Amino acid sequence: MNRKPLVSIIGAGMSKFGKHTGLLTRELFAEAASEAFSRCPKLQPKKDIKALFIGHMGEAYEHQGHTASTLADWAGLVGIPATRTEAACGSSGAALRSGIYAVLSGLADVVMVGGVEKMTHRTTAEVTEYLAMASDYPFEQFHGITFPGLFALMATSHMHNYGTTEEQIAKVAVKNHYHGSLNPKAHMQKEITIETVMSSRYVAWPLKLYDCSLITDGASCIILTKPELAQKYTDQPVHIIGSGQASDTIGLYERKSLSSLQATKIAAKAAYEMADIKPEQIDLAEVHDCFTFAEIMAYEDLGFCRPGEGGKLVESGETYLNGRIPVNTSGGLKAKGHPVGATGTAQTYELYLQLTDQAEKRQVKDAKIGLSQNIGGSGATAVVHIYRREK
Ligand SMILES: CC(C)(COP(=O)(O)OP(=O)(O)OC[C@H]1O[C@@H](n2cnc3c(N)ncnc32)[C@H](O)[C@@H]1OP(=O)(O)O)[C@@H](O)C(=O)NCCC(=O)NCCS
Repeated sequence: MNRKPLVSIIGAGMSKFGKHTGLLTRELFAEAASEAFSRCPKLQPKKDIKALFIGHMGEAYEHQGHTASTLADWAGLVGIPATRTEAACGSSGAALRSGIYAVLSGLADVVMVGGVEKMTHRTTAEVTEYLAMASDYPFEQFHGITFPGLFALMATSHMHNYGTTEEQIAKVAVKNHYHGSLNPKAHMQKEITIETVMSSRYVAWPLKLYDCSLITDGASCIILTKPELAQKYTDQPVHIIGSGQASDTIGLYERKSLSSLQATKIAAKAAYEMADIKPEQIDLAEVHDCFTFAEIMAYEDLGFCRPGEGGKLVESGETYLNGRIPVNTSGGLKAKGHPVGATGTAQTYELYLQLTDQAEKRQVKDAKIGLSQNIGGSGATAVVHIYRREK
């Protein structure tokens, strides 16, 4: 707990998430970058920022590759090294790891890390096909299975092993829509009831429309520096004290269990050990609820409850804003939205707001330690970070 931070966050920004007809990824990213700069007025972006790391999943959406250099230009940073990381929906979580490597290596004192995706101008069929490219081609994609189907297989396994119910899974959606209704930047800002979820159409049994994350446009970013330089830029830095990243087999068929994500467990163990923190010490978390069931699995894999008890945890109400461990106060991928490449640093953005008391209606009282879990695809990548507020 007294561990020296790895890096410190001195600014963060996020575009409004939603449907942005007519805008390009570069314009969305410029909006996020401009907010991050305005939150750190002592920073001279062009002079101080020495590298940019961008999470972006696919060039197919906009027919635009070479994203990192494009975004460096649009953020007013042309000239600096700009690198893209791709780890499916975990792309900007992986970019954050790369940013940490850069600062810790001493190669760059200040870096920007972010992510972006523009999806809503494509049909659902096109988006589904592009997303599915992050699953195993010969044994999954080729046979027509898509991400709702893969997560439905995991949910079914959990229901079989532990008796988790469709109603428990639906409660994640009700909670995250409630949190989203308090977030002015969320894609969907409406409260729903359990009946809304239970009566919505099946997408892949047992997952229904309201169990799925939204197809969204959006961008997010953060600015990192060495802890010893943080006070030069702000008196409210947020410190990253633990970082873990892990991989798993891309195909579900090769995994020992479908009821948990091994990569999350490995990444979480590394992050907890680095931070010298136990799961009970986490005050709030942003986790990867690409499907509501994935949040239940995350509770268990991150140690917020025992294996098999995730359904009971959401039912208890303890993961609500005023509960023991609030999860996805931003609205999560379910209500805030899931512009895949932007999701990892959007989670960090929410924790930055929370740990600097700027989360307004959804502020968690006395939050000191936060955790983010960002996964790629069906969990072949997982990235976990632990954050601490300035004392
Ligand atoms: C669930 C899904 C298939 C729905 O797409 P769709 O059937 O084409 O739905 P539409 O876009 O036609 O929207 C129909 C209605 O449902 C709503 N809607 C769409 N997706 C929704 C979602 N995920 N949750 C709640 N409502 C949703 C729309 O707002 C629209 O409402 P309206 O009629 O009041 O305007 C799509 O959102 C999806 O694929 N989500 C998962 C994305 C994903 O896999 N991400 C990566 C995870 S690893």
